[in-house]
Parts: sequence; structure tokens; C-alpha cells
Amino acid sequence: MKTATHDAAVLEQYDSRAQAYLASSVHAQGDDLELLARLVGQRPDAVALDLGCGGGHVAFRLAGLVGKVVACDLSGAMLETVAAEARKRGLDNIVTKQSAAEALPCPSASFDVVATRYSAHHWGDFKAGLAQMARAMKPDGMAVFMDVVSPGMPLLDTWLQSLELLRDPSHVRNASLADWQATLSAAGFEVGEVHTYQLRLAFGPWIERMRTPEVHVAAIRSLQQRASSEVREHFRIEDDGSFTVDTALIVARKMVSEADRSSLPD
Ligand SMILES: C[S@@+](CC[C@H](N)C(=O)[O-])C[C@H]1O[C@@H](n2cnc3c(N)ncnc32)[C@H](O)[C@@H]1O
Repeated sequence: MKTATHDAAVLEQYDSRAQAYLASSVHAQGDDLELLARLVGQRPDAVALDLGCGGGHVAFRLAGLVGKVVACDLSGAMLETVAAEARKRGLDNIVTKQSAAEALPCPSASFDVVATRYSAHHWGDFKAGLAQMARAMKPDGMAVFMDVVSPGMPLLDTWLQSLELLRDPSHVRNASLADWQATLSAAGFEVGEVHTYQLRLAFGPWIERMRTPEVHVAAIRSLQQRASSEVREHFRIEDDGSFTVDTALIVARKMVSEADRSSLPD
């Protein structure tokens, strides 16, 4: 069998599903999107990056607040959908850029706000993607990271990653909050506020959005039926397979070195 790269697997999964991600209510709404908007506030001079923009819900939310939004994704089909929807909504300050998170083509310190939502768990190189976001952000910029997070505990972590991978072979890893903190620090970010949420995933739409093959759906259902009480309770597995995951919104700034700190005025 011919093997493809991980990025090709992402495109295989996402290129034909752009409309589904635009229409998905799980993606179009959320307390995290509301908080993101409050954190950014009205900043007409600011330039923002929505990395792994998918159907564009972060870009649409930010477009009314900042001067310009760059919606960036690996998938050209996602970007075409975002551009068409932006035109429909009269949002003329969204531009699209096709790129991998791990190799952003922009100059350093280009953005006042960098954000990514429900994308980082697909990146072939999480560490490199976060390092690119740190590079792309201005020294006084704001970074906001939103994603499904692993509960950390191996019992629960293995279960979550297994279900995610069976549903979508372009899944890499839901990092735990501890992984996020450590990787953000290594990339040069200083972590600030962390907000956690619970997100119920209705089984039918969750499977249909990715057109998960029947054999994998059966494996997911079988795993769910055999889950221990700890797993069942944590993920609130329902009779129809719907379940609830933990998500987080993490705010970060650029780390200020001791040398920079000592040169700041008192
Ligand atoms: C679930 S969708 C994103 C949802 C969207 N951000 C939202 O809030 O509705 C995941 C997106 O990440 C993109 N993606 C995956 N790996 C990527 C990478 N390495 N670089 C850039 N985009 C990537 C996919 O193409 C897909 O469009």
C-alpha cells in the first residue's frame, strides 16, 4: 500500500468537509469564542491570525473587532469556503493564506493577536507549530489557544486518543493542560489565564462530519460499551454514543527574559 504524509492525511480528511465545518454548530458557537471576543476587544489597528481556521469561526468573530484577520489553513478547500462566507457576511477584512502551522510564511512579529482553535491536535509537529505562533506574534501581542484537552490521567487519555484516532486518522494528540503549559513555555510563551469547559459531542453529527467508515464506527461503539465506570463517568458516555470532552482556552503572552525585564523602566 502506498503511504502518504501526515499533511496529506489531513487534506484527505478536511478538503471535502469544508461545508460541514462551516455549518457545524459545535464549531460555530461556544463560550470560548465569546471569551476570545471579550479578551481581544475592539482593536481596529490590530492584525490577527486564525491558524488552522477550518470553517472560519474564529476569523468571523475577530473580523468585527480588529483591522485585519489572516485565516490560515493547510486545506485550500477550507480557505475557499471561508473566503466565500466572508463575502456573504460582508467581512472584507479577512484574507486567506494556505500554509502548514509548522512553516508560517509570514515575517516575524507580524500579528497583534494569534489564535488557534480545535486544530493543534492535528498538527504533525505541535512544538514547531507553537514556536511558529510565538515567532509570528509581536512582542506585546496576545495569543489564545483553544482545543479539546486530554484529562492527562493515562486511563482516560488512552481512551480519548483511541476514539479520536478511530474517528479521524488525521488526529495526532489531544495535549493535556500540563503538556500545553510545558510546550508553550518551551516555545517562548508565558501562560496567563486558563479557562476550562465541557463540550458535549452528539455522536451522529460527530461521526458524519468526518464520514467515519462503518468499521471504525463499530469499533468506537464497541470500545464505549466496554468502557470502565471511571471512563464512562468522566466522559459521560450516553446510550447513543454521545459523550462529553474537556476543552480549554489558554491565554499567553511572549515571555520576557530577565535581560528584557531589567531594561524595563521602573
Ligand atoms: C476542526 S478544524 C478547525 C476548526 C476551526 N478552527 C473552528 O474554530 O471552527 C481543523 C483544521 O485544522 C487544519 N489543520 C490541520 N493540521 C494543520 C496544520 N499542520 N497546519 C495548518 N492547518 C492544519 C485542518 O485542515 C482543518 O481545517
